[in-house]
Amino acid sequence: MNLKMVHSRLFCVLKTAFKKLEAVSMTLYFTSVLPGLEYILSNEMNNKVSDSEIIQINRGKVFFTTAESFTCLSSLRSADNLFQVIDQFQIGPHKKHLSQVSERIAQLDLDFIDHKYLFWVNASRKGKQTYNRFEVAKKAMEGINKHYPDWNMGTSQNHQIEFRLDIEHHHVIFSLRLTDATFRFRNQTRQFSRASLLPTVAHAMVWLSDPKLTDIFVDPCCGSGTILSERATYPTNRIIGGDISGVVTKIAKSNLEDSKVQVNVWDARELPFSNGCVDKIVTNLPFGRQISPDEDLELFNHHIMNEICRVLKPNGRAVILSESVNQLFWEAKRLGLFCLESYSLSLKGVNPTLFVFEK
Ligand SMILES: C[S@@+](CC[C@H](N)C(=O)[O-])C[C@H]1O[C@@H](n2cnc3c(N)ncnc32)[C@H](O)[C@@H]1O
Repeated sequence: MNLKMVHSRLFCVLKTAFKKLEAVSMTLYFTSVLPGLEYILSNEMNNKVSDSEIIQINRGKVFFTTAESFTCLSSLRSADNLFQVIDQFQIGPHKKHLSQVSERIAQLDLDFIDHKYLFWVNASRKGKQTYNRFEVAKKAMEGINKHYPDWNMGTSQNHQIEFRLDIEHHHVIFSLRLTDATFRFRNQTRQFSRASLLPTVAHAMVWLSDPKLTDIFVDPCCGSGTILSERATYPTNRIIGGDISGVVTKIAKSNLEDSKVQVNVWDARELPFSNGCVDKIVTNLPFGRQISPDEDLELFNHHIMNEICRVLKPNGRAVILSESVNQLFWEAKRLGLFCLESYSLSLKGVNPTLFVFEK
């Protein structure tokens, strides 16, 4: 299927979803998500949002319907942002077609939005159009002001209500952004270290470990403790983390102050656990870019995989993010670890793989 056919299909699927929604009191949403994590987020959604129906999965986006509240949706910790779809329509590729945007948006009922705040429209565009995204956004804002002349337009830097208008070839999706950066970064007081993981990625890794109340959970290279913090949002037996750097363990401790998580300075190649006593190991190994281990990366991976396998219980699970894709496959094979799943991510310009191994 080529890209145009995919988008055409998406449009039809969303149109059908919109019609169905009119009959029942469901709302159509989409979440943006780090490319590579779409299916993990979908699984989280199926588990946490009871009536959710996944409509379509695109690179970096999951469309779904639900009647659940925003509070329920904000439990989706692998998601970057949440958007409520307001409208979708078709548009031509030339500047003369831009008036369709303002006319269409001027007809929308946006009364459900608290308009005492400043609003803004961010637009994106894929395809061969003769207009740019700023021109589209301007037209959309004109449309809003045509219907609601007393609504005040903000600036790209200063607004409280944000709409999004995404054009993919002929198809337009107009949505309202429901979350800001504090959603995906959890809160503004969290400290990060060099090579800290995004909390959404850390959460996806924890989710893949299948958190259980009885878990003894370990992150052997915990850095600032992002994975440990995400694991601490689910019930557990014990959560333990450690890092070779005293500086980053201090950061991890300050990030985990209110939790029962134990953070140690240790060498992950010699963990203080006896054989076969850990249920889950979730970790982001050094990629050898911002953070390099004190030995050759290949040797480090070899030693750490030996140690992970030693301390894991039979049937225990290890979720590992690494850029050494081939080596990790071979190390796991050598150790008899079974690779249940793997996901290639697009993360800050690199493409590490997320492995799920079982002993
Ligand atoms: C990619 S970072 C982990 C980032 C972490 N997930 C976070 O969100 O902050 C890798 C970490 O491995 C640590 N490290 C390197 N060699 C280690 C070793 N031998 N034992 C334990 N930790 C080690 C580094 O200090 C670094 O903090």
